[in-house]
Amino acid sequence: SIEQKVTDLLAKMTLEEKIGQMNQYNGFWDVTGPTPADGDAAKKYEHLKKGYVGSMLNVRGVEEVRAVQKIAVEETRLGIPLIIGFDVIHGYETLSPIPLAEAASWDLEAIKKSAQVAAKEAAAVGINWTFAPMVDISRDARWGRVMEGAGEDPYLGSKIAVARVQGFQGEDLSSPETIAACAKHWAGYGFAESGRDYNTVDVGTSTLNNIIFPPFKAAADAGVKTFMNSFNELNGIPATGNAFLQRDILKGKWNYDGFVVSDWGSINEMIAHGFAEDKKAAARLAVVAGSDMDMESYAYVDELANLVREGQVDEALINDAARRILRVKFELGLFDDPYKYCNLETEKAVIGSKEIQDAVLDVAKKSIVLLKNENKLLPLKKSGQNIALIGTLAADKTSPLGSWRIASKDSTAVSVLEGMLQYPDNHLTYAKGADLTYGETTFAKELNINTSDKRGFTEAVSVAKSADVVVMVLGEHGFQSGEGRSRTHLDLPGVQQELLEAVYAVNKNIVLVLNNGRPLTLTWADEHIPAIVEAWQLGTQSGNAIAQVLYGDYNPSGKLPMSFPRTVGQVPIYYNYKNTGRPVIPAPNEVFWSHYTDESNKPLYPFGHGLSYTSFSYSNLQINKISKDEVNVSVEVANTGSLSGKEVVQLYIRDEVASITRPVKELKGFELIVLNPEEKKTVSFVLTKNELGFFDNSGTFVFESGDFKVFVGGSSDTVLEQNFKL
Ligand code: IFM
Repeated sequence: SIEQKVTDLLAKMTLEEKIGQMNQYNGFWDVTGPTPADGDAAKKYEHLKKGYVGSMLNVRGVEEVRAVQKIAVEETRLGIPLIIGFDVIHGYETLSPIPLAEAASWDLEAIKKSAQVAAKEAAAVGINWTFAPMVDISRDARWGRVMEGAGEDPYLGSKIAVARVQGFQGEDLSSPETIAACAKHWAGYGFAESGRDYNTVDVGTSTLNNIIFPPFKAAADAGVKTFMNSFNELNGIPATGNAFLQRDILKGKWNYDGFVVSDWGSINEMIAHGFAEDKKAAARLAVVAGSDMDMESYAYVDELANLVREGQVDEALINDAARRILRVKFELGLFDDPYKYCNLETEKAVIGSKEIQDAVLDVAKKSIVLLKNENKLLPLKKSGQNIALIGTLAADKTSPLGSWRIASKDSTAVSVLEGMLQYPDNHLTYAKGADLTYGETTFAKELNINTSDKRGFTEAVSVAKSADVVVMVLGEHGFQSGEGRSRTHLDLPGVQQELLEAVYAVNKNIVLVLNNGRPLTLTWADEHIPAIVEAWQLGTQSGNAIAQVLYGDYNPSGKLPMSFPRTVGQVPIYYNYKNTGRPVIPAPNEVFWSHYTDESNKPLYPFGHGLSYTSFSYSNLQINKISKDEVNVSVEVANTGSLSGKEVVQLYIRDEVASITRPVKELKGFELIVLNPEEKKTVSFVLTKNELGFFDNSGTFVFESGDFKVFVGGSSDTVLEQNFKL
């Protein structure tokens, strides 16, 4: 058995070799983070040859991977192969939509397929471990990494976590087309104060248990091979040195047998956190707390052996960490054939293959959310129209690739302009309008762009004047979200809002296509612009997906996985909020209730919102008791429009009274259905203790009988509702 093989191998290993398995080096000097000053290439090379390196990240391409693997296998005493990690976040070279966009599809099969083709492409270049999926729940659109997650909801987030893990790892991890996945960042990273990346996280037990943990638990139950801990401190203890998270919950209560990798340099960062006095203390705290592999801190490789010899760290902890890492290597089949991911022909055949392009186009179309469509402005007529296409993002072939695209090449996305040119029977005129700018931020500096250039306005206004319909592609550049890209404003960056208003002044027939990595504040646009399409950053096939939706060859079916605020002051905003003791205005002009004096409490677009070119009606909500703790909920959904379309039927519950207050609504079921015009379907859900219960503050899952409410509809706010008692 694998366990026996690991035991036999461990018995042959020196302390240093076991610690070597716990050491991960970056192959490049600073692709995804700062390399410590002492981390020179010569030292890495020497360590590799001695068997003091268990894993490398950011080494890629068959030749490069083969070269480092050869050193590990042929030059070290025991020939233990490396596990090769990489951030395959939404694809390797061929990109699918950013994960937040994919979450908007609510289509678990498409999401799984997307992860599966990403794994296949990554595996073909020698990679066998991805640092994905990121399963951090976040309610704060200021945080740049919301683009990398599945949004604000733990139920949807858990389903998507499972789909992604299954997609990456497949049924058989030893297949040369599947790779190990990594649930990250354990834990709480999405709750950074003020949405500022890496910031302090201080959350209560109930939020931890009921909101933050569930997608991680779902990933663990789905067999995810690794976890990554996070940069943040959680309630005063850095996650990397947090024994409660890693030992008590993950490896204790959940009995998890995979391994935990630190985040980049996060062991050393415990010094800056004020938790460890030096690197040696940091290494001790991290290993004792349950961090198995050190990513680029050089703390384990430099300090652990001495710590063991001095009796400060029990060797049993080293054995356990090395066992966990070796186990995954055996499961990947690396001991049978360390070069199984290193085939030049496969590399050539798989990168950018038709199967991968088809899958990323499919999920890109499904990720688009129709936010608004007044007077059926969309879909566009396919011929005889004079269309003005405006916005620098409309012609951009790089930005749609989004953030986290280390291996993809610039200018490889299909632009909206290119996508729309596939429909040649209309007359299309393009005008840039304005550069995409955002004050003096790092982003503007990096791209060396003028921050307030409006010279292109005149041309844009002039092409808009004579157009039947204006399509404006506005939003954020792909690098305005992602790691380290938090924002304090959530509006359209730079002069784009002014451009939108200038064009609107001459032609109101505007379709606004948004490219962005996070919810934006679009209150003005929602009031004035008749049609708004949320197209995120959709990856390599972006422009084709957008054009097919604009022209009605694909009827949009996406639903928002995060609430869109009316203003940044409402953030954090989320649909599953608590009622408070003062939820409604008690009398006209009353002040003392939970509200703002200058803005509504409601989001602009709620979680779950998304329209179609057809319409759906919901009726006949029925609840039938199956047993003392189970009910069946059914509803009839009809297509009342003239096109066939897809609808995500959503079910929410409210536990009216509980020993720990429960949210006003919680998603507990959804089903994606297809309906032809006039067709009707009955959709049923079974609610059991699993859906109706919750975690109490001791971390125990409880079901409390009493009054519940159920809501069903096509969004978190347009719903039928009914009460029931259990
Ligand atoms: O996987 C990432 C992580 O999410 C953020 N820091 C760097 C890691 C490796 O690139």
